[in-house]
Amino acid sequence: MTTLAGLPVSRIGLGLAALGRPGYINIGHATDLERGRDVPTMEAHAHTVLDAAHAAGVRYFDAARSYGRAEAFLASWLAAQGLAPGAVTVGSKWGYVYTADWKVEAENHEVKEHSIANLTRQVAESRAILGSYLGLYQIHSATLESGVLGNRAVLDELGRLRADGLKIGLSITGPRQAETLRVAMEVEVGGSRLFDSVQATWNLLEPSAGPALAEAHAVGMGVIIKEALANGRLTGRNDDSAFSVKRRAIKVEADRLGTTPDALALAAVMSHPWVDVVLSGATTVGQLRSNLDASKIVWNREIDDRLASLAEGSDEYWTTRSRLPWN
Ligand SMILES: NC(=O)c1ccc[n+]([C@@H]2O[C@H](COP(=O)([O-])OP(=O)(O)OC[C@H]3O[C@@H](n4cnc5c(N)ncnc54)[C@H](OP(=O)(O)O)[C@@H]3O)[C@@H](O)[C@H]2O)c1
Repeated sequence: MTTLAGLPVSRIGLGLAALGRPGYINIGHATDLERGRDVPTMEAHAHTVLDAAHAAGVRYFDAARSYGRAEAFLASWLAAQGLAPGAVTVGSKWGYVYTADWKVEAENHEVKEHSIANLTRQVAESRAILGSYLGLYQIHSATLESGVLGNRAVLDELGRLRADGLKIGLSITGPRQAETLRVAMEVEVGGSRLFDSVQATWNLLEPSAGPALAEAHAVGMGVIIKEALANGRLTGRNDDSAFSVKRRAIKVEADRLGTTPDALALAAVMSHPWVDVVLSGATTVGQLRSNLDASKIVWNREIDDRLASLAEGSDEYWTTRSRLPWN
């Protein structure tokens, strides 16, 4: 156990982006949910994965208003477990509205709205669902383009929520993550830094935010890493022929360490001292167990050197991600 912005967390957390809704962009999402995508089946499935995660020591759970019913599935699981608020840390996010209507193929899966009206509405919804379990509330995918980091009404309201006891974070995305984070680090409300934490993408293919994340950690912000497996591209499931050389390099290194490609990719994240929590995005108990094996890997510089050539240019990485189909 460790802490993030004073909240109790485990080094590996569980994200519910793939568990809370029938459609997502992760590579084999459709296969994972073959037991059924109706709400009761998906809720029972999410609870099974949550049970396994909690039993294995996972204490940080990550949701968002736009992850379908992720907050509700988490709330019903917490209630069934009888866990006290404070026994685990729950983070959620506002800023996207879920619009897929429980469909895998939808014209719009989620609509971004970083307005004060949406913040007010969504924080009330999150609190109604999660109650006092909600510990961390994050802006979902803050970008410089969205203007949210200069929206005084939004920032002041987040400051009020912080004064009221919530920890406040932001998640970032896209090729300008580092620049966005450096702007966010300077945002103040009432004379002190607003953001307690940042959630960012860092993985073996897209490590460009590393230096900025190290700076954020050094000034006392909590650092959560998402998409450690590049939405499944860093797992054995990625059969893209253009990725075959990299897939082979990952497999060779995983075999050398007696582990799986996904555990290797997660361990690469955990090797950095500026990471507080890395999210597993597991959709099944099998994936979760394989992901958790990351904690057993003893990292060293030579592994970094052997894997360094996997990194892509940021623009290339984010263009590829934007082409992943919902399934
Ligand atoms: N902007 C944001 O704030 C933002 C954006 C993205 C994610 N997040 C957070 O980060 C969490 C994790 O991110 P993520 O799920 O998008 O990405 P990820 O961790 O890079 O990928 C997770 C996916 O990898 C695949 N996988 C995992 N273990 C595997 C194994 N052993 N074998 C084969 N495939 C395996 C699964 O996909 P399939 O089975 O479907 O192939 C799983 O859904 C999310 O749940 C969410 O909480 C936040």
